[in-house]
Amino acid sequence: MSDTVYRRRFSAGRLLFNEGQAADAAYIIEAGAVEIFVEFAGERTRLAVLGPGEIFGEMALVDDSPRSAAALVLEDCEAIVVERGQIKRELERATPLMQILLRTLIHRLRVATSSLPAAAAPISADEAAKVIARIKGEHEVRRAIDGGELVPYLQPIVRLDDGITVGFEALVRWRHPSQGLLGPEALLGSAERAGLLEVLDLMVLREAARMLSAANRRLALAGRRPVFLSANFGAVHFADERLADVIAEILGEAGLPPERLKVEITETTLIVNRDARKALDRIKGLGCAISLDDFGTGYSGLSYLSQFPIDYLKIDKSFVCAMLSERKTGEIIRSVVQLAGQIEIDTIAEGVETQAQADFLREAGCIYGQGFLYGNAQPAEEACASLFDRS
Ligand code: CMP
Ligand code: MG
Repeated sequence: MSDTVYRRRFSAGRLLFNEGQAADAAYIIEAGAVEIFVEFAGERTRLAVLGPGEIFGEMALVDDSPRSAAALVLEDCEAIVVERGQIKRELERATPLMQILLRTLIHRLRVATSSLPAAAAPISADEAAKVIARIKGEHEVRRAIDGGELVPYLQPIVRLDDGITVGFEALVRWRHPSQGLLGPEALLGSAERAGLLEVLDLMVLREAARMLSAANRRLALAGRRPVFLSANFGAVHFADERLADVIAEILGEAGLPPERLKVEITETTLIVNRDARKALDRIKGLGCAISLDDFGTGYSGLSYLSQFPIDYLKIDKSFVCAMLSERKTGEIIRSVVQLAGQIEIDTIAEGVETQAQADFLREAGCIYGQGFLYGNAQPAEEACASLFDRS
């Protein structure tokens, strides 16, 4: 049904609806006046007289219940009709908590003013449980951040031709007091709803940068090349104009030169942020590199590679996993690696688990690899220490 917004005229004296009737529309008064009333044991109580700009008849649509009161036109009235479908669609876009708040308020108003038996509880036990779980999740993530339960783990990124670790990707882990070690899936949804994604990513960056900076000082003393840090930045950062300054400040405090940081972003970030280009240019201006993450999972539009200042392409593990069993996937990887190379973009393959995969990727021209074959994500201290084990 289309969202037809149409106007209706009602003459003074007309009863628009009675308490207890079924409802199909709400009205916004443009001119005239409407009385809202209820009747208790034959006695009529006026609840309100509504005039231009006011809405009535919305309660029954919001909580799918009968009219809570009657509406009588006091003065010739012109009103805009708001259909049920319009209200329903808007409501569906609200968060579950907002929906429950709204229905609870209406329920309370009905109990307070209506002579009808009180409607059933405004929300089902199931709905309540879901909302409570979400709210708890958000509290828990907040507590976890404040309590230092979220820690950076580092997964090695190696050069495929000699297997030497050249950098690490920082991945958040949750040292949950009762559930043990949890991955990002346990917290990202709650963190996003609680508006904490930005804080979380920056915290991981800060901690990991500090660790890697210390490791690089030791490597320098041993006459070895420094390693880089690859850190994930969700789309939410790109709404913040200060992003490049914030990164510069964190790296400065940690003592990690910007040249040692690769900023990992996904294609979605580029799609949802029209201004990403500006932010990326500023980040590149600091000396950091940009990695396009999860390549192969979304549209994987090659145009991004020319539109945005991308330095590295991370081939998603789903591609790497299927590459040896599906000839076409293998060919796609070969072509992508080759094409990226031609425009000075180096490729990093994720999810490398077997030597055969590593060999295929190396022959295809892929420069770097990451995955179980080279090591899982480890606590940052251990990952850094492992740089010194092998030499
Ligand atoms: P609905 O229940 O759909 O139909 C009756 C309408 O009267 C209701 O929506 C509200 O728009 C309005 N209404 C109900 N109670 C009050 C009140 N106490 N004060 C003002 N308006 C009310
Ligand atoms: Mg990543």
